[in-house]
Amino acid sequence: MVGFFLWVLQVLSVALCIQEESDFQWTQTDRGSFYYGKFPPTFMWGVGSSAYQTEGAWDMDGKGKSIWDVFTHKKGRVFMNQTGDSSCDGYYKVKDDLALLKELNVSHYRLSISWPRIIPTGVRAEYVNEKGIQYYNDLINVLLENRVVPVITLYHWDLPQNLQEKFCGWQNVSMVTYFNDYANLCFEKFGDRVKHWITFNSPWSVAVEGFETGEHAPGFKLSGTGAYKAAHNMIKAHSKVWHTYNKNWRNKHKGMVGISLTTEWGEPVDISNQKDIEAAERFVQFNFGWFANPLYNGDYPQIMKEYIGQKSAQQGLGVSRLPTFTSQEKSYIKGTCDFLGVGHFTTRYITNRNFPATQGPSYFTDRDLTELVDPKWPEPESKWLYSVPWGFRRLLNFVKTHYGNPMVFVTENGMSEKMHCAQLCDEWRIQYLKGYTNEMLKAMKDGVNVQGYTAWSLMDKFEWDEGFSERFGLYYVEFRNKNKPRYPKASVQFYKKLISANGFPNVREVEKWHRISTESCSTINQLLAAEEQRNTAANILRLIHDPLVSHMEMVTEIVVPTVCTLCILISAILLMILLRRQS
Ligand SMILES: *[C@@H]1O[C@H](CO)[C@@H](O)[C@H](O)[C@H]1NC(C)=O
Ligand SMILES: *[C@@H]1O[C@H](CO)[C@@H](O)[C@H](O)[C@H]1NC(C)=O
Ligand SMILES: *[C@@H]1O[C@H](CO)[C@@H](O)[C@H](O)[C@H]1NC(C)=O
Repeated sequence: MVGFFLWVLQVLSVALCIQEESDFQWTQTDRGSFYYGKFPPTFMWGVGSSAYQTEGAWDMDGKGKSIWDVFTHKKGRVFMNQTGDSSCDGYYKVKDDLALLKELNVSHYRLSISWPRIIPTGVRAEYVNEKGIQYYNDLINVLLENRVVPVITLYHWDLPQNLQEKFCGWQNVSMVTYFNDYANLCFEKFGDRVKHWITFNSPWSVAVEGFETGEHAPGFKLSGTGAYKAAHNMIKAHSKVWHTYNKNWRNKHKGMVGISLTTEWGEPVDISNQKDIEAAERFVQFNFGWFANPLYNGDYPQIMKEYIGQKSAQQGLGVSRLPTFTSQEKSYIKGTCDFLGVGHFTTRYITNRNFPATQGPSYFTDRDLTELVDPKWPEPESKWLYSVPWGFRRLLNFVKTHYGNPMVFVTENGMSEKMHCAQLCDEWRIQYLKGYTNEMLKAMKDGVNVQGYTAWSLMDKFEWDEGFSERFGLYYVEFRNKNKPRYPKASVQFYKKLISANGFPNVREVEKWHRISTESCSTINQLLAAEEQRNTAANILRLIHDPLVSHMEMVTEIVVPTVCTLCILISAILLMILLRRQS
């Protein structure tokens, strides 16, 4: 009997130890399969956030106004006229949020510095706000003391309002100097401790949503021209800052300066149709290539120059709406990225479509294409964010082949939901995280040089024109409560397991993470929903979530009584034996 039992155990353990061993053969066409394997030991796992979306304290301690403060205070720009005035109150909750980072055990935290918090008018020569410097100094120090590497974005969309009013912001080339002065101040004050710098977060959004559609601050609708001009100045500003670092700080601080470009992947609708293939390539070039090509290859993508040039001519313009770089500028800009930050959320199918030139200038019609989604894709939680993991692998491979296999950090990747009541059981985010990180692992096996991954985002926050209606967080934030408490969604447990295993060990293990994560959330979710007294809910949550406390509960509730019962039983038996012997 015992022999049989041991045999079963042995068979089981052999079965469990067999990992899917093989050479890397996940073909490009196989979109469904899951790859079990590990990330390199030095791989960096992190989470991200940004200043305007989380800090709140919009007018505290000498902070100047940003274009987002002004934009959100105008009615009718943001969902329900919401603002980021207090948002997550992150400015006051550095310790609380550090605890969340430690719970996840991430190796890095991506955050941004608010330019008007440290230079209220945007002009360094005018005034530096020491309280702002102090805030970021303390934040950086507390991260490092806890062995969390700060990865810092200099521009996450909150331009000082003064620069907008005086110079029309990114429409004006003078931003290059002001941004460079600001960046130089950051290198001077924080560069001894911060080694990972990102100049711009998604300049595409700044250009297109800020100056073409006007959905984002400063809300301009300069269709067909404003976005190209803004992008032109941001590219110049990025390279200027890289040169400043390279010349003045690199030897001393030994850090890196990169940029974060966020893009969707474009897949041809009909892969046998050359027109669709070219349209899909155009889609990515007009988004990612617009910025990456100058920085890596010295100029705008050829296809952008051709298409915008042709359309401009047809529209009777003497020169292209796409500005040009002088040859001096080209060589100055080329090669100014120590690493490439890649942000990615979703994929579109692309088909060719000719727009007649009579439609008037527009970034969107310049591309001559139509975007589609596959009706078979799972219905997204937010209307635009379809989960299409295989697109991520394609994008990463595109980066590798077009820009000479640069060092890549994934700077943003995540899933959002629109929920009116508390929902912590974010099954969809677990699926997304699992799928996308797995495709990233496959891309790395394809040879893409990915060094780190940043889940977007640490917690729910102010989501720009969507206000608080769209939630990207691993942690849920109860915005209606004055204290802005944070609660872990199920995906926190899953991401924790992924980080600690540094990969996907085997089917059983990964399924177990999945199960445990969703089980853990349902109790908390019910509590949060049912509990009317918010503070009570917070206390209960704290108890459930503190591993030490739950461990102690187990000791007092199960172990102690069991041991006592056993002791009594054994004593009784011993006593009986003793009594028998004596009688
Ligand atoms: C937002 O402000 C506009 C303009 O004042 C107003 O018409 C609209 O009703 C407001 N929306 C909400 C949800 O308060
Ligand atoms: C946290 O991460 C570090 C570095 O990867 C590791 O050494 C440590 O064991 C982790 N801690 C926990 C509690 O998993
Ligand atoms: C840039 O700012 C300067 C100084 O205010 C101004 O003279 C110039 O016209 C501006 N250029 C643009 C393109 O707005």
